[in-house]
Amino acid sequence: MFKALRGTEDILPEDQGYWRLIEAKAAQVCRLFQYQRIDTPIFEQADLFLRSIGEGTDIVEKQMYTFEDRGGDRITLRPEGTAPICRAYIEHGMHNQPQPVRLYYLGPIFRYERPQKGRLRQHHQFGVESIGSADPVFDAQVIDLAWRFYESLQLKGLTLQLNSIGCPECRPGYLDSLKSYYSSQSGSLCPDCRARFSHSPLRLLDCKVASCQSAVAGAPRTLDFLCQPCRSHFQELRGYLEGRAIGYELNPYLVRGLDYYTRTVFEIQPVEVRGQSAIGGGGRYDNLIGQLGGRPTPGVGFATGLERILANMKEQGLAPPAPQAEGLVFVVSATQLAAGEALHVAYDLRPVSGRLKALQDQGVPIANQGRYHGQFHFPGRLRQPIDRHPGSVGTTSARLTCPGGRFS
Ligand code: HAM
Repeated sequence: MFKALRGTEDILPEDQGYWRLIEAKAAQVCRLFQYQRIDTPIFEQADLFLRSIGEGTDIVEKQMYTFEDRGGDRITLRPEGTAPICRAYIEHGMHNQPQPVRLYYLGPIFRYERPQKGRLRQHHQFGVESIGSADPVFDAQVIDLAWRFYESLQLKGLTLQLNSIGCPECRPGYLDSLKSYYSSQSGSLCPDCRARFSHSPLRLLDCKVASCQSAVAGAPRTLDFLCQPCRSHFQELRGYLEGRAIGYELNPYLVRGLDYYTRTVFEIQPVEVRGQSAIGGGGRYDNLIGQLGGRPTPGVGFATGLERILANMKEQGLAPPAPQAEGLVFVVSATQLAAGEALHVAYDLRPVSGRLKALQDQGVPIANQGRYHGQFHFPGRLRQPIDRHPGSVGTTSARLTCPGGRFS
């Protein structure tokens, strides 16, 4: 028997209400903040991700679905949304539009991860990117948008963690200090951290292995090494967030799994699984567009995993509003001869009632229809027997009944 591949999930009808609600709230908050929707292909040239996410990262080293297509091109199923948006920004000359260009996207993301709760090989993200301004007011706006989005879903207990990881001016000084500190800790490090030491030292701070935690706790802090422009940028951002009454925790060890970030990085953690699986995250990437061949253009953005939102909603007992049960109309054909006529009647009535059902839609064998009285129950909230004696419609015995006694 075939099964969905490990780390992938079907979205069954009973969960569609959650998905539609999350997507609707995303669109609503983007309208409010004037972000426009963009859809990019789900696969791109592999090099786009190598150049943006960074060769030493887990995503590029271990998690990308990369293959050669029949034309010999190296293709990758997108492992994140930011690089494709920047590629589109450059390709479509969006620097000619009023800046910053504000875009949002919703769609599947592919990462070959070890599947576990909240970690899938195909998941879905809602993300936003504000491209074309280095002003910290836009970092604040992106965080504000994220926060209002979660609020609109009534999610509780989220924590915003915030850090600045500097820029090419000040980061080398920090990395020197970090490496000199870690060279004295090498005996206690896990094998992954020993490898990170040389090719991705910032990621040492992100290790979740228990034996590495004491090393992380004593590590130098990025915030102590910021140059003056980075320090002012961060101060201004904090001022804007405080002005908007958005609470945050300074986390001087917060780094992200993608190499393109400069200055601001942030994550939103659900209360129970702190430190493990963020529900959302983002930051600033002032050098990314330049690295991809565009003219140097700053940007900031955020993305959130829809499956993790849904899991948190369920844990918190949040559900999408139940569909309205009013105005239900059932068309029942009592004989095989009338079935075709019933389909016509049902079709004509569909505009009148969105929840109209033809008996055939329910998969009830025609042969049983003569005995339907009191036995025929519909899915969902309604458990009401079909009335046997409504007025006939049409020529034969196609019957039309409305449980509420009304047709509209
Ligand atoms: P990210 O933190 O790698 O950031 O992913 C964003 C969100 O996607 C995570 O917070 C999480 O909710 C969800 N997510 C990531 N991996 C998985 C997985 N394997 N299974 C389920 N959910 C997952 C980015 O991708 C950046 N592009 C965000 C960004 C936008 N930065 C700037 N702009």
